[in-house]
Amino acid sequence: APANQPYLTSYHFRPPQNWINDPNGPMYYKGVYHLFYQYNPLGPLFGDKMIWAHSVSYDLINWIHLSHALCPSGPYDINSCWSGSVTILPGDKPFILYTGIDASGQQVQNLAMPENLSDPLLKDWVKFSGNPVMTPPNGVKDDMFRDPTTAWQAPDGRWRVLVGGQIDNEGMAFVYWSWDFIHWTKLDHPLYSVQETGMWECPDIFPVSINGTIGVDTSVLNPGVKHVLKTSLFSDKHDYYVLGTYDPQMDIFSPDTDFHGNSNDLRYDYGKFYASKTFFDSAKNRRVLWAWANESDSTQDDIDKGWSGVQTVPRAIWLDKSGKQLVQWPVEEIETLRGKQVSIHDKELGSGSIVEVSGITASQVDVEIDFELPELEEAELFDPAWVDPQQLCNDKNASIQGRFGPFGLLILATEDLTEKTAIFFRIFKGQNKYVVLMCSDHSRSSLKEDLDKTTYGAFVDIDPHHGKVSLRSLVDHSIVESFAARGKTCITTRVYPKVAVENEAHLFAFNNGTQSVVISSLNAWNMNQARLSEEESFKL
Ligand code: FRU
Repeated sequence: APANQPYLTSYHFRPPQNWINDPNGPMYYKGVYHLFYQYNPLGPLFGDKMIWAHSVSYDLINWIHLSHALCPSGPYDINSCWSGSVTILPGDKPFILYTGIDASGQQVQNLAMPENLSDPLLKDWVKFSGNPVMTPPNGVKDDMFRDPTTAWQAPDGRWRVLVGGQIDNEGMAFVYWSWDFIHWTKLDHPLYSVQETGMWECPDIFPVSINGTIGVDTSVLNPGVKHVLKTSLFSDKHDYYVLGTYDPQMDIFSPDTDFHGNSNDLRYDYGKFYASKTFFDSAKNRRVLWAWANESDSTQDDIDKGWSGVQTVPRAIWLDKSGKQLVQWPVEEIETLRGKQVSIHDKELGSGSIVEVSGITASQVDVEIDFELPELEEAELFDPAWVDPQQLCNDKNASIQGRFGPFGLLILATEDLTEKTAIFFRIFKGQNKYVVLMCSDHSRSSLKEDLDKTTYGAFVDIDPHHGKVSLRSLVDHSIVESFAARGKTCITTRVYPKVAVENEAHLFAFNNGTQSVVISSLNAWNMNQARLSEEESFKL
């Protein structure tokens, strides 16, 4: 990265400069991956004329930035082109449904199609002359109606799509249906709604295979799948999901478990991860998840660096064997960026010990560590009052000694550890099972002030009795994406060390518990830079 840009990422998707937020309309179409995203072409902060920028890739890792796909142009979107999705209709016809902010400031849904289906990159998009195709329904405020999903076709042949919204303080996903994708009728009841959750942004709904990791097209509906409903809660900026059953006759969703939209619910990621969206990748039969990771620095910092926001590394997403939660793992293509590797095997980490992972560039690394645990009989007792894992991680930060844990990684650390981002575990003994806590502690991540250093935390639903717990972290200058237990619990964070940048960054494994743990294996790879190029400078 340039000397004055120590926080610029090297292998996360981002434009060369300016503000970005939500991923929009991701798709795989005729050999090419497309990603559109919310972009302010005019500067590093959110703007009042947002557009859909457009990039393409052959591998989800290296990207070519194309010309903008959707910019404000008609009365139905003159004040911004906000988030939306792509649906590929029979005959290989991709349609964009997106939210326009119209001339009077209200949120409406619009259609756009490729100008030329034989252009392999689908560079030019034409807006439908009959826009808008949906306007805020009766009883819904003008600014509480947005972010259409990918549509699915129910067995009756009609297309369904969700639009996020709220009535009073009840958040909900409205359902619309259509035979022709142009004329849309709103159903009387929402697909699902929850009191007191406020505005539902960027809903997503998709089937997952009950057995195995294979992803399926959004319209698939058979006894081999369950459904996932996700909402991005504007009120607390988290993406919550719930597993359940979609009934195509009634067009309702019945969750398997209660859903409140709070810390009792499942999240894709317990850190900075918002407005996510999945698509079905027919090339590899997987479902892929994208999300926006915004900055944790100050507005002035964003203005100074001239950019703000990145997309997370795309993740494959599937149903866990338990049937109770989803699992995520960075797409395998990210491993093509792995360069020099260093390893550690069978190394005991005694109480209070620390081991440096040397010989790599710790500011740009992919690290996987497997811990082997001894008998856990002596674990500290878990207090059932500890219902909020983030709070627990706050109360018991990386410097507070426990019995089993804290142990984990110190990332983007200075040699003297004055700066460090600590990603670690603690293990407790609960009523009739052990409890594994994962924390991402940023309280010492930087000597700089004016940063959001909130600590994140979540429980990991594994039985550590089996003797193992694993962690993988993707470190890229100012973003760290961590995956515990092979993707069962994920935490993404943005950090801005003052000293521990570039070649000054160090990586350590640590154990600050009284009991020893063993690093059964650790592998770390220097990550090469992804190619993010402008179309002109890229030979096709
Ligand atoms: C979510 C969101 C969406 C909206 C878009 C505007 O981050 O607020 O609801 O469509 O961003 O950029």
